[in-house]
Amino acid sequence: MWKKKTKQFMSAGSETKQTLHENLAFTAVEQYKLIRANLDFTLPADEKCPVIGITSAMRGEGKSTTAVNLSYVFAEKGSRVLLIDGDLRRPSIAKKLDIDNTHGLTDLLRGKGARIEDFQSKRRDNWYVLPSGAIPPNPSELLGSDRMANVLRQLREMFDYIIIDLPPLNLVSDAISVSPLISGMIVVIREDHTEKKELEKCLRQLQMANVRVLGCVMNGVKTGSASKYARYKYYGNSSRGTGK
Ligand SMILES: Nc1ncnc2c1ncn2[C@@H]1O[C@H](COP(=O)(O)OP(=O)(O)OP(=O)(O)O)[C@@H](O)[C@H]1O
Ligand SMILES: [Mg+2]
Repeated sequence: MWKKKTKQFMSAGSETKQTLHENLAFTAVEQYKLIRANLDFTLPADEKCPVIGITSAMRGEGKSTTAVNLSYVFAEKGSRVLLIDGDLRRPSIAKKLDIDNTHGLTDLLRGKGARIEDFQSKRRDNWYVLPSGAIPPNPSELLGSDRMANVLRQLREMFDYIIIDLPPLNLVSDAISVSPLISGMIVVIREDHTEKKELEKCLRQLQMANVRVLGCVMNGVKTGSASKYARYKYYGNSSRGTGK
């Protein structure tokens, strides 16, 4: 099925291909590795398969780009990694990676016989990409459902890390709905795009819902570097250290 259609990042849609891992400048890839290192430091050492949600206040701040690149650098380290498109309203992972979105998370949630082996990426043996699948009428309820809890419980047994790309928190409740089922959330902030009051609202909502914020990723930071995409910064929120 969709594995046949999978191509390398280079052939992903031209709109996004420059922001995906293999086309990033060395310095940008290093920033993702730094985020990976910070997360390893932030997450409890004894936690089996942390599940990391990626959200932001509004649309277009770089959540999906961050989810793809971060999951990929975790896989590069040798870990077994699953990237899930949890944006069941406007999924974009399949399009970014030029794979089929016909089957995915919603099939697993409906118990429709989808097998996780079908979602192994051709790019790396230890990198699995689960697109959204068919868009459901009730994304928020599905993401917070017992079925979702069961699916995640099973997936946790199979992977070292799970990264879930989520919709913007200030627009829909989906990220909050799934939050009790995950280890913590990363909030993406995009320079010259994210409004301060929206970010404050987003963080306030996370706090009210008792969600563990693992850190914020600054996307699109202008470094003055010669590299156009060397623009990622991580500000950790570590319980075991000072983060950054
Ligand atoms: N650092 C960056 N530099 C240049 N372009 C970027 C950068 N980060 C993201 N983009 C581009 O911005 C667009 C939005 O990024 P992305 O899809 O990752 O955002 P999103 O937060 O997931 O959006 P949505 O809320 O619609 O799901 C994409 O075209 C992506 O390629
Ligand atoms: Mg997105």
